[in-house]
Amino acid sequence: MRKEARAGRALPLVIEVEGRFAGQFNMEHIDWGAKSAEVGVWIDSSLTGQGIALAAANLLAEYVFDILGLRRVTAPVCVDNRQATRLVQQAGMQREGTMASYLDVGGRRKDHDLWAITSTMWAAKSARDSNSTAS
Ligand SMILES: CC(C)(COP(=O)(O)OP(=O)(O)OC[C@H]1O[C@@H](n2cnc3c(N)ncnc32)[C@H](O)[C@@H]1OP(=O)(O)O)[C@@H](O)C(=O)NCCC(=O)NCCS
Repeated sequence: MRKEARAGRALPLVIEVEGRFAGQFNMEHIDWGAKSAEVGVWIDSSLTGQGIALAAANLLAEYVFDILGLRRVTAPVCVDNRQATRLVQQAGMQREGTMASYLDVGGRRKDHDLWAITSTMWAAKSARDSNSTAS
């Protein structure tokens, strides 16, 4: 990851809660030409279910689209990973399809759904969210 980060192809990020290491959000396969990247996340199991991953996802989306200028971010999510599926849905990603036998999870190849969000989808979601906060 460090080597990829030095080459500008990865962005490893730490999630802290009240100064304590709580998880990671990692951007990988950053393609500056295509303006795309893949994202992965984990949260300390004692801190899940409190909206921390969603808050971090929203902060990350703001950074990658509004500051870095990426156009598309994808997330491969194991088909039976319900928490991660809820997270990507709430973060405004759309499911584009299922990738057969995509990654090893717990020692077994598993099918993964490909979830994606574009800068346009993110801008529309941000506008919807701020309208619902205002009303
Ligand atoms: C996937 C993962 C990061 C999701 O973390 P999470 O804490 O469940 O996700 P969120 O921060 O969005 O929290 C979601 C829950 O918080 C609730 N929530 C959202 N905002 C909230 C808030 N402001 N206050 C309190 N609760 C809130 C949601 O209703 C949801 O609850 P529910 O699951 O009972 O419906 C976590 O389960 C994990 O680390 N899994 C292992 C690694 C993994 O699978 N990574 C994904 C690979 S891509």
